[in-house]
Amino acid sequence: MSISKKNIFKQIQEIKTQAEQQTDQIKNQSDLERFKFEFLTRKSRVNQIMRSLKDLKSQDRKAAGQAANQLKNFLQKKYKQLGKQISFDKNLHIDITAPGCYYQMGHLHLTTQAIREIMKIFEKIGFYRVRYPEVEWDWYAFGALNFPEEHPARDEWETFFIDEQSVHPKLGKRILTPHTSSGQVREMQSGRLPIRMMNISKCPRRQLDVSHLLIHHQFEGLVVDKGINLKHLKGVINYFVKQYFGQARDFRIRPYDFLFTEPSFEVDVSCAACNKRGCKLCKQGWLEIGGCGMVHPKVLKNGGIDPSQYTGFAFGWGVERNKIMQEGINIKDIRLLYQNDLNFLEQF
Ligand code: DAH
Repeated sequence: MSISKKNIFKQIQEIKTQAEQQTDQIKNQSDLERFKFEFLTRKSRVNQIMRSLKDLKSQDRKAAGQAANQLKNFLQKKYKQLGKQISFDKNLHIDITAPGCYYQMGHLHLTTQAIREIMKIFEKIGFYRVRYPEVEWDWYAFGALNFPEEHPARDEWETFFIDEQSVHPKLGKRILTPHTSSGQVREMQSGRLPIRMMNISKCPRRQLDVSHLLIHHQFEGLVVDKGINLKHLKGVINYFVKQYFGQARDFRIRPYDFLFTEPSFEVDVSCAACNKRGCKLCKQGWLEIGGCGMVHPKVLKNGGIDPSQYTGFAFGWGVERNKIMQEGINIKDIRLLYQNDLNFLEQF
């Protein structure tokens, strides 16, 4: 196709008009990029004109070339100017219509929620929270609690021992305390009397299956005062069961044989799903929540308390176990609590 000087001048005029019309609409960086793409890249119309100059008659080439160059300069200048304008207020550009960011909100873990809930209940009747070592001496976890050396009952606690040569002459080996009962004698030794202790901590044990965690939490109550008897223990259990599990739940105590309490019991709470009738969840209508009893006189002595003056009761229950026995929480595998599965955790 032959190309004429007249046609080139016409095109130049058109491009200039178009560019001028567009400058009013350039507000931000992406508008500017669009301008550059349209008027200044290799495929732009100006460059097409440049390339077609060689097809003009030689006498027309000079004038058309000059006009095309002028246009190119004009466009480059415009582009620079616009760039300065928008970079001036670039940082002020806020798109208030853009949708906001959504930050996912977390919440306390179920176990932390349970610990707070438990503590709130016991605080109301005068218990105070304590914390004792989780890396503990054998003596506090067993010896002081009336477990003779090598007694087979120790095996039930599936204890982790610290691997070290030295053994303390009185306190024995160091262990990861498998139960919060190790806090009992420590609390007695603090000299605080009367005692209304609530010791909550982690308890590692060599056990892991659907109903056992390698590390679970226990809460241990200990009351020592003059004239404390079994009725007080039953009263406290009743109070806790109603507060934590609901008024409709009942409890019972069954004789058991812990070495550090005499008499000793296990406590059961009626099943929320079947109300004592017996179902898949509970088998016979009751769910076990943990042990309790009247503090053994030898234990009081080990804590420096005179058993002829003072008596006490104690109970030690699993935080996670009690949590999953609350109404409406049907967890078949206790390990689910610690698998960081958001689908599960977000339900609470
Ligand atoms: N420490 C026991 C356990 O881990 C539970 C326990 C039983 C605690 C009887 C007590 C108690 O204070 O009196 O299985």
